[in-house]
Amino acid sequence: MVDAILGLQWGDEGKGKIVDYFAPRYDVIARFQGGPNAGHTLYVGDKKIVLHQIPSGVFHEKTINLVGNGVVLDPVTLKRECDIVASFGVDVKKNLFISQRTHLILPTHRALDKASESSKGTNDKIGSTLKGIGPAYMDKTGRNGLRVGDLLDKSFTTQYIKLRLKHQRLLDNFNFQEDITVWEEEFFEAIEFLKELNIVNGEYFINDKISQGKKVLAEGAQGSMLDIDFGTFPFVTSSNTTSAGICSGLGVAPQQIRDVMGVTKAYCTRVGGGPFPTELNDATGEELRKLGNEFGATTGRPRRCGWIDLVALKYARMINGVTKLIMTKADVLDNFKELQVCSAYKVDGKESLEVPFQMTRHKIEPLLQRFEGWNCPTVAAKSFKELPEKMKTYVSFINQYVGANVSYISNGPGRDQIVEVE
Ligand code: GDP
Ligand code: IMO
Ligand code: MG
Repeated sequence: MVDAILGLQWGDEGKGKIVDYFAPRYDVIARFQGGPNAGHTLYVGDKKIVLHQIPSGVFHEKTINLVGNGVVLDPVTLKRECDIVASFGVDVKKNLFISQRTHLILPTHRALDKASESSKGTNDKIGSTLKGIGPAYMDKTGRNGLRVGDLLDKSFTTQYIKLRLKHQRLLDNFNFQEDITVWEEEFFEAIEFLKELNIVNGEYFINDKISQGKKVLAEGAQGSMLDIDFGTFPFVTSSNTTSAGICSGLGVAPQQIRDVMGVTKAYCTRVGGGPFPTELNDATGEELRKLGNEFGATTGRPRRCGWIDLVALKYARMINGVTKLIMTKADVLDNFKELQVCSAYKVDGKESLEVPFQMTRHKIEPLLQRFEGWNCPTVAAKSFKELPEKMKTYVSFINQYVGANVSYISNGPGRDQIVEVE
């Protein structure tokens, strides 16, 4: 049996915290896509940790963590992160497993990401995290990439040199001048470390666990609106962030998937370029950023903020087959006297309830509905009955609109700041 936790917006919904919260109920936590572009924050005691490559179940001793074949892996980030988690007493040799089919991010992928992004005009920049994600996935679909399993083969260095030469020609075309020798030194050091970890045949590994009756939690990175197929293309990431990615990114059959828990903030954010219909470029947006501490966990960039977009959320519910919603950062709205939600778009002057094929070519205006804010602190609430009625009204409107129910409300970043909806 496989359940999933994934983001329904443009990423940073609080997936890390939610996976960490649910992890004790599962035997295996598995990342199925994305790479070090992800930044998943969780707290161990009062220590804040941001995970990029390792699944967010790693701090639970009895939980096994798998980096699936759908992920792109930067050995340098992985090594750094393993050192951090080891300093908390976690034994990665015991509870971290990596699929041999996982594609590697090479130093030249990072360079290509940088070169490609800087060659784009201001309005065309994706706002990539520059972690090499796009170029690594391009080499996967272009059938050039190197995989973790290749590290164990004696031909690895030859394969690496061949691909590096190919990349160099592309970099020369971009007129990329930076010296990446240090990146390469770090890379070769990190792959020696990676070779010592548990490299497994991921698809057999996970299916064996499922056959033994173990419970698997698939951890999504990014968010549904950043999905390569269904997001706001081309302002997206390079993988299927939606539930479809679970099957191809882990090697599990669709019948194995039970609950799809979709995480949404009580409002909305986006980091990087691209359309964002409910974005607030005003004092309210600034207030959301300040109260929500909306700065990127991977890049530190300020996140763009706005009201919750129910048109996009309903779309994400549909694409993912969401069975339960989890609403995070509800406490960030505590100080607002009035809230708004987007319940329809005006696309080139015409009302619509659909996410259009190409948002950038149209003028999209959000049609907003107003709600009275609860305007009282909720961070200390431990049970649903302690939450204000006005929050419940807000939540039940979302439930009805989206067609899935909010089952948990997160009311602070802490591990215990989460309330089950009764
Ligand atoms: P992820 O990428 O989906 O894991 O999300 P990030 O970690 O990038 O960003 C979520 C941020 O919100 C982190 O700083 C979390 O510590 C914080 N956070 C998560 N849940 C809550 C919540 O319910 N309330 C508040 N105030 N912060 C939260
Ligand atoms: P988590 O898992 C928010 C955004 C980038 C950029 C676009 C493409 O923490 O939710 P990429 O580096 O993938 O080529 O960037 O996607 N992006 C994210 N935004 N959260 C993330 O991950 C993101 N990962 C990528 O800002 O706009
Ligand atoms: Mg994040």
